[in-house]
Amino acid sequence: MKHNVRMRRLRSTKSIRDSLAEVSLKPSNFISPIFLVEGVKKKEPITSMPGIYHLSVDNSINEIDSLLELGVDKFLLFGTVSEDRKDTQGTEAYNKRGIVPTAIETLKDSFGDKITIFADVCLCPYTNHGHCGIPDIQTGQILNDKSLKYLAKAAVAYALSGADWIAPSDMMDHRVRVIREALDKEGLSSTAILSYSAKFMSGYYGPFREAVDSSPRFGDRSTYQMDYRDGRQAVREIILDEQEGADAVMVKPALAYLDIIHRVRQATLLPVAAYNVSGEYSMVKLGAKHGIFDEGKIVFENLTAIKRAGADWIITYHAKEALKKGWLE
Ligand code: PBG
Ligand code: ZN
Repeated sequence: MKHNVRMRRLRSTKSIRDSLAEVSLKPSNFISPIFLVEGVKKKEPITSMPGIYHLSVDNSINEIDSLLELGVDKFLLFGTVSEDRKDTQGTEAYNKRGIVPTAIETLKDSFGDKITIFADVCLCPYTNHGHCGIPDIQTGQILNDKSLKYLAKAAVAYALSGADWIAPSDMMDHRVRVIREALDKEGLSSTAILSYSAKFMSGYYGPFREAVDSSPRFGDRSTYQMDYRDGRQAVREIILDEQEGADAVMVKPALAYLDIIHRVRQATLLPVAAYNVSGEYSMVKLGAKHGIFDEGKIVFENLTAIKRAGADWIITYHAKEALKKGWLE
């Protein structure tokens, strides 16, 4: 047995420690979510997510300007609409003049290829029942194949208005294939797909559902989002989405799912995104507010862990503040 090994030699100076860092965080790793609301000059705080706002399109331009200055150029757009605009089919999700297509057009006019726009595709922000797909009126079951055509319509509407990437988050089977076919049929072969491939039914989405008012009004999402007790299905979802034509895949949430990110990283050569979701964000914000830890250090540690697990892209609400305050250096 060797007693002369001393691990601390590898930790003895900052220079050695820095040189051995396996991962570093760059602004280009981050995708920043943007919550859009209709109207002008709106900047309304989302109470469940301190520091995050509902923005009207004009104000989202300012937000994107400040993120661009920090080196973040990728954005994930979410639309929100008032209750009276919601219906059983989520019509506003694929309204060509709706909130998301209008915002994409404006943002592409202002920024062109300086930004990459990812458009979240789902029905839940626009349905009066809050589900990600269309339910059977009798049974309440979420109908997979019926939902696909609406999701494809939304994808096409966002892509036609200039979205660079379509990001379906509904967890219906075969949606990547159906969306790919619909895009290609419209001549949108250069629009890419980032699939929320391994999206678990998670308690960590709570604050987000308040933000977009998308909680299911009956039942839950357990027949379409994944059960976190079964990690193997995540790998199957990734493989299937790759076969269906996804250009990149996602694991969501991130922090309680680092093992899944790691497994997915081994299972595919596609880019892997991880979504550091609203509940993970708000826990950090509230903990820091109560002085139980140093926010900057926790954010650096969390984001580093996500990247070390194997994520190329991290969708996170922390990006702006973390870069502005130099937490990631
Ligand atoms: C819904 C959707 C959810 C999130 C993104 N798209 C939540 C859900 O399934 O209810 C979560 C994002 C977050 O919590 O930050 N399609
Ligand atoms: Zn949804």
